[in-house]
Amino acid sequence: MVTKAQLGKLGLFDAKVPRYTSYPTAPHFAGGVSAAKYSQWISKISPGAQISLYVHVPFCRRLCWFCACRTQGTKSDAPIIAYLQTLKDELAMLARRLPEGVSLSRLHWGGGTPTLLSPAMMTDLAGAIRDVAPFAKGAEFSVEIDPNEIDGPRLDALAQAGMNRASIGVQDFDPEIQACIGRLQSYDITRDAVMEIRAREVPSLNADILYGLPHQTRARMTDSVQKLLSLNPDRVALYGYAHVPWMAKRQQLIPSDVLPTPQERLGLFETARKLFVWDHYAEIGIDHFATQSDSLSAAQREGRLRRNFQGYTDDPSEVLIGVGASSISRFPQGYAQNAAATGAHTAAIRGGRFSTARGHKFSAEDRLRSRLIEALMCDFRVDAREIRDRFHIGKRRLDDLLTGVSGAFPGLLEVSKDGLFIPPDARPLTRIIARHLDAYELDTAGHSSAI
Ligand SMILES: C[S@@+](CC[C@H](N)C(=O)[O-])C[C@H]1O[C@@H](n2cnc3c(N)ncnc32)[C@H](O)[C@@H]1O
Ligand code: SF4
Repeated sequence: MVTKAQLGKLGLFDAKVPRYTSYPTAPHFAGGVSAAKYSQWISKISPGAQISLYVHVPFCRRLCWFCACRTQGTKSDAPIIAYLQTLKDELAMLARRLPEGVSLSRLHWGGGTPTLLSPAMMTDLAGAIRDVAPFAKGAEFSVEIDPNEIDGPRLDALAQAGMNRASIGVQDFDPEIQACIGRLQSYDITRDAVMEIRAREVPSLNADILYGLPHQTRARMTDSVQKLLSLNPDRVALYGYAHVPWMAKRQQLIPSDVLPTPQERLGLFETARKLFVWDHYAEIGIDHFATQSDSLSAAQREGRLRRNFQGYTDDPSEVLIGVGASSISRFPQGYAQNAAATGAHTAAIRGGRFSTARGHKFSAEDRLRSRLIEALMCDFRVDAREIRDRFHIGKRRLDDLLTGVSGAFPGLLEVSKDGLFIPPDARPLTRIIARHLDAYELDTAGHSSAI
């Protein structure tokens, strides 16, 4: 049994560590990856391959104080109309460079708030995407939906375009907490959005909720989770609230003296976790839950769970292309990120160039460490045979890497000839453990707390 004191001693309550949705993490991307390199990587995709596409819409009608996403508020439609044209031009440029026969295994619209697009804009965007590549058989099309920013006609347009997974932002149901984080959203609004989504026979529903919010207590967390469970989501992402007011200036509106302590955050996470488990949800990686029949649960059982920028996925594609300002693409050769500012992104696309501003080319060492970290984040284990077969490294080299990690956590991790295993009561430390396999310097200012 690992005690709270032990977890604390190992850094759980004061370490700042990445969430490892990529390796290396985005702060290590640099200028070495150009638009020409990005185009070259696109042209290297195998003809007939299945790829994933992420479309970023960096606008919101309201700006929630807690939000650390890259987005801008707008009341008028003018910047959205201009941005949509940029997206369509970027998609057309992509279509011209993609090899023959490529299809989409996953399509995700994220933001910001993609549902602030009008129904006609959604249909237009979906058409431009269809001109790039058709959906592969069994493809998933997911959209981030703000329940405050959706209605029947927009859901009709999304369903018509083939959306089969809706992802709603809930955060918390408690009115006092909502007021304090600048995001008012009654239970009725959320429930009505869910009913409207289900009325269109969208087969899968994801919900995001947060722990570690101001004024959150275990009792309030219980109440919020029970309200969420009453809506029967297929998947839940239970994110720790990242309070980084020096980066996300809006968060300065949230007083830090009403935030739970790191020890309390652990209690809040555990409270929510137990409620999902009691309700028969499978625990997926460090912070997701899914019904037993959900494809993410099957992927976890079968060792096919992967980690990407959206968190956990069962997407087997080797290539993820991100379009829109600040979007990141992943290729077998490395990462490429578009210009972060919408102005710079639009200027490049208008000039007939991709806006690639930075990225990272993988070395053999990056690939190895990336897989080791992904395995820990997804399965809480490293399978020695898989790693040796896949990366052609000797037993000695892998042993050195794994004993280096286990040595930093005496008596906590299981190491054997089969690999390394994080037992359940040590799992709150997973990101800290993964950090020991990260060969890059860590700028702690850019990361959130370990719990
Ligand atoms: C792009 S936003 C959600 C989409 C939509 N705009 C909405 O608000 O419903 C994606 C998710 O990021 C998470 N998020 C945003 N800011 C966060 C923060 N500071 N810490 C942790 N998670 C955060 C929220 O759970 C949010 O639902
Ligand atoms: S939580 Fe959603 S609606 Fe609120 S600011 Fe962030 S992206 Fe926009």
